[in-house]
Amino acid sequence: MPNLFDSIQLGSHLLPNRVFMAPMTRGRATEAYVPTPAMATYYEQRASAGLLITEGVQVSPQGVGWYRAPGIWSQAMVDAWRPVTAAVHDAGGRVYMQLWHLGRVSHPDYQAGAALPVGPSAVAAAGDSHTPTGKKPYVVPRALAVEELPAVVDSFAQAARNAISAGFDGVEIHGANGYLLDQFIRDGSNKRDDAYGGALPNRWRLPLEVAAAVAAAIGPERTGFRVSPTNGYNDMHDGDPVGTFRFGAEQLSKLGLVYLHVVEPVPGHMLAAADGTQTLGALRQAFDGVLITNGGFGRDNGHEIVSSGAADAVAFGVPFLANPDLVQRFRIGAELAAPDMAKLYAGDDSGYIDYPPMSQ
Ligand SMILES: Cc1cc2nc3c(=O)[nH]c(=O)nc-3n(C[C@H](O)[C@H](O)[C@H](O)COP(=O)(O)O)c2cc1C
Repeated sequence: MPNLFDSIQLGSHLLPNRVFMAPMTRGRATEAYVPTPAMATYYEQRASAGLLITEGVQVSPQGVGWYRAPGIWSQAMVDAWRPVTAAVHDAGGRVYMQLWHLGRVSHPDYQAGAALPVGPSAVAAAGDSHTPTGKKPYVVPRALAVEELPAVVDSFAQAARNAISAGFDGVEIHGANGYLLDQFIRDGSNKRDDAYGGALPNRWRLPLEVAAAVAAAIGPERTGFRVSPTNGYNDMHDGDPVGTFRFGAEQLSKLGLVYLHVVEPVPGHMLAAADGTQTLGALRQAFDGVLITNGGFGRDNGHEIVSSGAADAVAFGVPFLANPDLVQRFRIGAELAAPDMAKLYAGDDSGYIDYPPMSQ
């Protein structure tokens, strides 16, 4: 059976290892959501990952909602992403862009005319938005009208085309962690009684329309999809995580998507389902492409899950923050550096691009 250091085919790319970097928002773009040179350095430093998945990248002004997170809807943004992909490719890496629409967990402070953020239903999430002027409680969103949904689908497809034009190797559709598409999928946030709510095919309709449109725009062999069936982050819940996400995985498989990325923290992790629900086995059965797992993994249990065949690759988030050469550290069993958690978001280069590789 394979281990973390075995190669794996992903679309047209033969990836040198199965240590992927998980998407992580770091808030180092400009206040106008344009990528900065430091971001090129950050991803270049981590290019030995089998695959880099970028931080969430906002697909449209409507989808915006995180201070200094980047976007990909304008030509200026496309141009500013090019040095990022060039730096990664020059360092021998491959990089997918994560496409993000925050939906109900945006805030009027981010929206044109201080409009309400949009969601499947007028149901607020418990919690706070990180606005440019500090944390503010989430508001009750405006439920999207059916007539507005094609524009949402188009914004993802256009973002995917823009990502390819900026030199990305593919995209990951963010269907996880309580953002717009996840809000449609799970029954705690979707209370619609039209063709986009209620039964599973209805709750999955918008995410699947997005997946189909993105796959049509750039090719299913360059399109991945991320889910988080049991993650309660952003006040999310669903009555039947296994059934809900098995259905979605089957449909995404029919579309021929290159990978399914499942956030399902290892048992005991603070984000693991309190009742111990696990969906990975059902999703493995349902999805024919590459299966990535993520959530609280280290070197040893990462090796175990790949060699058990339960997943093809593991995405690591926090371990990559302070260990740009994580693959090499795993290879030799080196100790890992700990990140400065106070510098996760919206700072400067400190705690971002100043973590050194191991001394040789
Ligand atoms: C600073 C930070 C930012 C994150 N931003 C994103 C994001 O933009 N998109 C996403 O899907 N997940 C995001 N996550 C979640 C991670 O991708 C990952 O699921 C989580 O950290 C658990 O994996 P780990 O234990 O390997 O870190 C973020 C996590 C951290 C710590």
